[in-house]
Amino acid sequence: MFSIIAAIGKNNELGKDNKLIFKIKDDMTFFKEKTSGHKIVMGHKTWDSLPGKLKNRENIVISRHDFPGPDQIIHDLDAFIQTNQNTDEEIYIIGGGTVYFQFLPYAQNIYLTEINQSEKDATTFFPEFDKTKYNQTLIKKGSENGLNYQIIRYTVKNLK
Ligand SMILES: NC(=O)c1ccc[n+]([C@@H]2O[C@H](COP(=O)([O-])OP(=O)(O)OC[C@H]3O[C@@H](n4cnc5c(N)ncnc54)[C@H](OP(=O)(O)O)[C@@H]3O)[C@@H](O)[C@H]2O)c1
Repeated sequence: MFSIIAAIGKNNELGKDNKLIFKIKDDMTFFKEKTSGHKIVMGHKTWDSLPGKLKNRENIVISRHDFPGPDQIIHDLDAFIQTNQNTDEEIYIIGGGTVYFQFLPYAQNIYLTEINQSEKDATTFFPEFDKTKYNQTLIKKGSENGLNYQIIRYTVKNLK
């Protein structure tokens, strides 16, 4: 089973120049709590944006290339989706934009931190999706450094 986890701005902004835009400590804590002990899947650019492997998680990177560092590199995304989409194991899809887009039709859950702020120079965006196809649960609401945010879990009503 796949669960997407992301933090987005008012216009679905995800990143700028291969960096995160918004830094909310509570959101980082939520991300760590959810993903620790699990497999995490990310695109090569997101991997490059990190200081290194995320601890206590199996770091899986999607790329057409091979390079040292990750626990696993996936070249064949379709095969990975087929093998893992109907399992009970929760695999977290942690970005970036190209990877969210490709996993969206197969993800059971989307954990979205929605931040009430925009960034006009953003370079990467979360894909549009039809919210009426998901049940929504408010997990948390808060404010930090002048940024208001809410964390919502979207759970698909009918998965592909
Ligand atoms: N706000 C958030 O929650 C959040 C979370 C994560 C990331 N981000 C931000 O998002 C940005 C990065 O996202 P991005 O969309 O630019 O890049 P990305 O999705 O992280 O990585 C794109 C790369 O992944 C590989 N890839 C993707 N699909 C593939 C496929 N089907 N088969 C083989 N390889 C595939 C390719 O690597 P190769 O070129 O090596 O083949 C591609 O160039 C950064 O700014 C980052 O900070 C934000």
